[in-house]
Amino acid sequence: MYGLIKTWKALEARGIMGINRRNADYVLKYNKRSLYPIVDDKIITKERALAAGIHVPEMYGIIETEKQIDKLHEIIGGRSDFVIKPAQGAGGDGILVIADRFEDRYRTVSGKIMSHEEIEHQVSSILTGLYSLGGHRDRALIEYRVTPDQIFKSISYEGVPDIRIIVLMGYPVMAMLRLPTRQSGGKANLHQGAIGVGVDLATGVTLRGTWLNNIISKHPDTTNAVDGVQLPNWDGFMKLAAGCYELCGLGYIGVDMVLDQDKGPLILELNARPGLNIQIANDTGLTQRTHAVEAHIEALAKDGISEDAEQRVRVAQSLFGHVHPH
Ligand SMILES: Nc1ncnc2c1ncn2[C@@H]1O[C@H](COP(=O)(O)OP(=O)(O)O)[C@@H](O)[C@H]1O
Ligand SMILES: [Mg+2]
Repeated sequence: MYGLIKTWKALEARGIMGINRRNADYVLKYNKRSLYPIVDDKIITKERALAAGIHVPEMYGIIETEKQIDKLHEIIGGRSDFVIKPAQGAGGDGILVIADRFEDRYRTVSGKIMSHEEIEHQVSSILTGLYSLGGHRDRALIEYRVTPDQIFKSISYEGVPDIRIIVLMGYPVMAMLRLPTRQSGGKANLHQGAIGVGVDLATGVTLRGTWLNNIISKHPDTTNAVDGVQLPNWDGFMKLAAGCYELCGLGYIGVDMVLDQDKGPLILELNARPGLNIQIANDTGLTQRTHAVEAHIEALAKDGISEDAEQRVRVAQSLFGHVHPH
């Protein structure tokens, strides 16, 4: 541990973006209301991604009504691992990651044993809107369980690490690797207790991390170093993230990706109000970077130029890459 993080006020003075500025200058300005459903509903995101040829975890089925809960057996079929999640959930709430079967029960990735009835009950809670944004009725989606690439074995504790890249008008501006911990129950959401580790945009090498508001360089469960790790296929992740602008049309998004052992890079979800803790993981403010992208776009627009995903990645890497480790 390197000590506690300074207050948000002190951070804002250093170009750290606060929630009001994010909402006013980015979310409201760049994200058209009518496009929100594309990212706020994971089933719609999946359909969009598939149509655009972007890889996502395979969907096994959707349950929309209490009556359809009977279909669960059929949807799961002979599979021993799968994931159930609220289509309109957030922050990892309501997600069930089943890793194995145990006699006629199921075992979650964090080792909890559940009966089929308990799983049905969870689905029913999802449908009532217990986990959905705004408490609206929701749908439950059942999908392929991602098996993380071996590279993450040494730096992670069960569950699936994910890679979050903030993308402004198709330009990546900041990246973070999120590592589940014992506390986060296999989920990579920071507020569940996962670790956020900054990533150099140019190289895909990890920087130091943040965990429960502390700066860390080691994983609390494995004690392995989380910094200085080369993420595989980094340019691929950058391109995937940049291309999500065309996929959804929203100008300010957080793109969450995973690296599956067999299927490679997959998009897990898109977020229209990406969190601000990524700045702590990177020990850098977003404001300077978003301003640089806005200036770049403005300069190009004067000449009537726009760039494709590959060009945008290169611009981002030269503007924001090769940061010096702390
Ligand atoms: N298909 C999956 N396989 C394995 N783990 C998953 C899967 N989907 C989600 N998770 C885990 O749960 C976390 C949250 O999932 P996500 O789809 O991003 O929903 P939320 O909107 O709640 O953040 C992920 O970061 C990952 O760790
Ligand atoms: Mg997420």
